[in-house]
Amino acid sequence: MITFEHVSKYFGKNSQRIAALSDVEFSVESGKVFGVIGPSGAGKSTLIRCANLLERPDEGRVIVDGMNLIELTPSDLAQARKKIGMIFQQFNLLSSRTVYENIALPLELDGKDKSSIKQKVLPLLELTGLKSKQDAYPAQLSGGQRQRVGIARALANQPKVLLSDEATSALDPENTHAILRLLKDINEQLGVTILIITHEMEVVKEICHHLAIMEHGKIIEHADVVDFFGNPKTELAQRFIQKVAKDHLPIAVKQRLHSEATPNSNPLWHLSFLGKTSQEPLIAHLMQQLSITLNILQADIELIRDQTMGTMITEVVGSTEQIQAGLKYLQNKGVHVEVIGYVRNPE
Ligand SMILES: Nc1ncnc2c1ncn2[C@@H]1O[C@H](COP(=O)(O)OP(=O)(O)OP(=O)(O)O)[C@@H](O)[C@H]1O
Ligand SMILES: [Mg+2]
Repeated sequence: MITFEHVSKYFGKNSQRIAALSDVEFSVESGKVFGVIGPSGAGKSTLIRCANLLERPDEGRVIVDGMNLIELTPSDLAQARKKIGMIFQQFNLLSSRTVYENIALPLELDGKDKSSIKQKVLPLLELTGLKSKQDAYPAQLSGGQRQRVGIARALANQPKVLLSDEATSALDPENTHAILRLLKDINEQLGVTILIITHEMEVVKEICHHLAIMEHGKIIEHADVVDFFGNPKTELAQRFIQKVAKDHLPIAVKQRLHSEATPNSNPLWHLSFLGKTSQEPLIAHLMQQLSITLNILQADIELIRDQTMGTMITEVVGSTEQIQAGLKYLQNKGVHVEVIGYVRNPE
C-alpha cells in the first residue's frame, strides 16, 4: 500500500546540508499497522511527511496505492491525498469550529452538499464516541477527545491510509490506551493501512504488526513486531527494549543499578521467551545443573500484537564461568538475553 524506494531528503545548503532521510526503503502492506521508532532527529516526521508529499523528497519514489506520488500532476496529487488521512500530536483543530464542523471540514472543502456531509459525519461521531460532543468547541474537550476529533476528520474522506505522527504523546496513559484501541478498530474494521510514528513502546506493542527503527535518516532494522521484541538485532533496538525494561524496575533495584560491572556486583538479565518456550525447566536447569542463583525481580507474560511473550528480569549470582555457561544455555534454547546493568551488593 505504501512503498518508499531510495527516498532521500536533504535540508540546508553546502556545509550545513543534512540528510534527514538517506536512501530509505520500506513497504507497508495493505491492511497492516507499521510503526516507526527512533531517537529525536532521526527523520521520523520527515519520513511520514514524505508519505503524502507534505515534504517532497529530493530523490526516490513514494508509491501509495499503486501511484508514484512524485510524478502526479497537482490536481491528481490533491485527489490522491484525499485517500491519505493524517493525525498530529497537537491535533491541529480549528478552535472556532465545533466538533461536527471540524470533522466536516475536508468534505466542505471538497464541495460536498450538506446532506451528504451529514451522512458521512454522523457515523464518524459514532465510531469515535463523540456524538454527545458534536456541538462542543475544541477548548471544551479533553486531549483524548480532541484527538478523536482529529481522527474522525482524518477519516472523513474514507482514506485507505492513515498517517499518525506522535498522535498519543500529548495524552495521559489512559487516553493513550483509548486512542490506540480506536486506531486498532479502524485498522481491523475499516481495513485502513496505518503508518505510525511513536517513541512509546506501549504503542508499538499494542497495535503494530511491523516495526522499523530509524537513526540518522536511515532505517537500520525492520521486522515483524514479535521478532523485534524477541530477537532485536541492532544495538539501538536492544537499547529501546532495555529502556522499557529499566523503566519497569522496582525503585530499590534502580538505585543499585550501574552500567559497569564491579567485583562486588551481579548482572541483571532481561530474558524474553517467545512463543511456546516454557520458562520453568529453563530456570530449574540454571539453578540445579549450573548452580546459578537467580533472584527473580519480575516475571510477566505480555501480549505483543496477539502473541504471547514471557519476560523476566533477574539478578544473576554465580562465578564468571557459571554465568557464561548459563548465557550459552539460554541462547541455545532460543531465549533472548540482554544484560541491562549490574546491581551492586550493599557493602
Ligand atoms: N524544515 C526543516 N528545515 C531544516 N531542517 C529540518 C526541517 N525539518 C527537519 N529538519 C531536520 O531533519 C532532521 C530530522 O528531523 P525530523 O523532524 O524528521 O526528526 P524526528 O525523528 O521526527 O524527531 P522527533 O522525534 O524529535 O520528532 C533533524 O535534524 C531536523 O533538524
Ligand atoms: Mg518528529
